[in-house]
Amino acid sequence: MASFSHPHLLGIRGLSRDDVDVIFQTAKEFKDVINRPIKKVPSLRDLTVANLFFENSTRTRLSFELAQKRLSADVVNFSAASSSVKKGETLADTVRNILAMKVDMVVLRHPHPGAAHYLASKIGVPIINAGDGTHEHPTQALLDCFTLTERLGTLEGKKVCIFGDIRHSRVALSNVRCLQLLGAEVMVCGPVPLIPKHFSSLGVKVEHDMDAALGWCDVANVLRIQLERQGAEVPFFPSLEEYHAQYGLTAERMDRLDSAPIVLHPGPMNRGVEIASEVADREDAIILDQVENGVAVRMAVLYLLAGRLGGSED
Ligand code: CP
Repeated sequence: MASFSHPHLLGIRGLSRDDVDVIFQTAKEFKDVINRPIKKVPSLRDLTVANLFFENSTRTRLSFELAQKRLSADVVNFSAASSSVKKGETLADTVRNILAMKVDMVVLRHPHPGAAHYLASKIGVPIINAGDGTHEHPTQALLDCFTLTERLGTLEGKKVCIFGDIRHSRVALSNVRCLQLLGAEVMVCGPVPLIPKHFSSLGVKVEHDMDAALGWCDVANVLRIQLERQGAEVPFFPSLEEYHAQYGLTAERMDRLDSAPIVLHPGPMNRGVEIASEVADREDAIILDQVENGVAVRMAVLYLLAGRLGGSED
């Protein structure tokens, strides 16, 4: 069995190139499994995984649940909106209570950066960070890079630009780290107020002109505008129409290029804002490949972490 030396998956930070290679190799095997008529393997039989979502999610929650079911785990789902969190219970107490019911692994989405790290310091089961505020979303970056590796063979020397609302994104930081581990050159592009100053210290190029960035990159990863996180008295840009005019990925922009980049979007998409429908729905778009690969990559992460529990021998 492939080995993975970490007790948790809290972020891309701390992973090595070998760790990512092991995850991708395992994901490739699970992708074959989920494309067979019988899509299930018994790898996590007898293990129980809790999906604790303190923030909304469609793709990540369903993808983790499907991954767990394909591995034959028992699954419990928790949503903060209908829980005792509303009555003042702390995160650690909520999770300790769930663990007392004999849960073996936790998938956590939380609005606060560092929540998964905090929980990992308090409880003794593997934690997978499914997005902590504006900090990291490691399985999203892994599935994005896995999808690109399938398409391009290698990311070594490839030019990847992440467009849009970098400031409020957890996908951006995890992607930068994962892409750099795999040898890609990374650029971020967006309006000045939506790119935090510290990004230039991560070894990425910063560009504010979308057409220049599109001319540079082999891959465009377009992030959504996170209006729900912006909450500033002074808006970060004048209007959604203005944003679309300056930073919307449109067919006209793509058609002006000598060679169009591969387009990724982690979802959920704001059609007509950061991406036009004609681009999102192009035949060569790989946005739904990202979603398909998400299940295989999450199966790989669950399987590798369960290996440390001694519960994943087939
Ligand atoms: N990409 C992503 O994290 O989507 P959800 O918020 O729907 O999980």
